[in-house]
Parts: sequence; C-alpha cells; structure tokens
Amino acid sequence: MRSLLAFILVLFSAQAFSMEGNTHIRTLASSCAICHGQGAAQAGAIPSLAGLDSTFFIKKMNAFRSSADEHAVMVQHAKGLTEDEIQQLALYFSEQRRACPVAKKPVFSDVGAH
Ligand code: HEC
Repeated sequence: MRSLLAFILVLFSAQAFSMEGNTHIRTLASSCAICHGQGAAQAGAIPSLAGLDSTFFIKKMNAFRSSADEHAVMVQHAKGLTEDEIQQLALYFSEQRRACPVAKKPVFSDVGAH
C-alpha cells in the first residue's frame, strides 16, 4: 500500500519537473521512493533524496559503486545503474522540492570518506 502510494506520488509530482518526459528515469526514481520516500522528510534512518545537491548525489552513488560491501542495499542499487543514469537521477532529484523544508539539505562538504 505504501509503495503504491509512493508510486502514484512519483507520477503525480514528476509532472512539475524538467525530467518529466524521461519515463526511464522516472521509473528508476520510483523504485528509490519505496525506501527514500517521495519529497517528504524521512522519519527514519533513510535520507530523503528530494532536493539533494546533484554533486553530493553523484559523489555518494560513486562511493557506493566502488564499495566492496556487496551486501549493502545501496551498493547493489548503485552498481546496477550506468553513469548516465546516475547523472540523470542526480538532476531529477535535485529538481524535486521537499515536502518538508525543515529537513537538513546536505552540502558537498558533508560527504564522508568512503
Ligand atoms: C531497499 C531500500 C532502498 C532502496 C530501494 C534505495 N535506497 Fe538509497 N539508501 C538506502 C539506505 C538504507 C541508505 C543509507 C545507507 C548508508 O548511508 O550507508 C541509502 C542512501 C542513499 C543515498 C545517500 C543519501 C545521503 O544523504 O547520504 C543516496 C544518494 C541513495 N540512497 C540513492 C538511491 C537511489 C538513486 C535509489 C534508486 C535507484 C535508491 N537509493 C534506492 C536504502 C534504499
């Protein structure tokens, strides 16, 4: 039920963004929304992707991609994406508005050493 709601929200809200026409990227992004939510600030440990700085996003995804931890969820997700898909997802998420503006928006300097 929650994932269905997230999927509907992705379809609905994506219309406002410039990646609107890119069905492939929207499909990929909707699979992320199951864990990361759609625009909303996440109450749990999984951070929101909406409004994320694109440089931070790419740096994080590349860190996941080069990780040797094959059991980590994000390592598998990142390794399954091409560099081009990561770039387009970075743009897609950076253009999404957060439903809750009080959530901290990470800046590039927040990236830890992976
Ligand atoms: C099964 C749940 C799950 C799915 C699906 C998922 N993620 Fe994640 N993601 C996580 C978890 C858990 C973390 C925190 C991991 C960590 O910090 O080591 C995370 C962290 C991230 C981060 C780092 C964010 C930050 O602020 O540090 C990015 C970027 C990210 N995910 C992108 C994606 C993208 C893009 C997709 C879809 C292609 C996706 N995730 C799908 C669970 C998921």
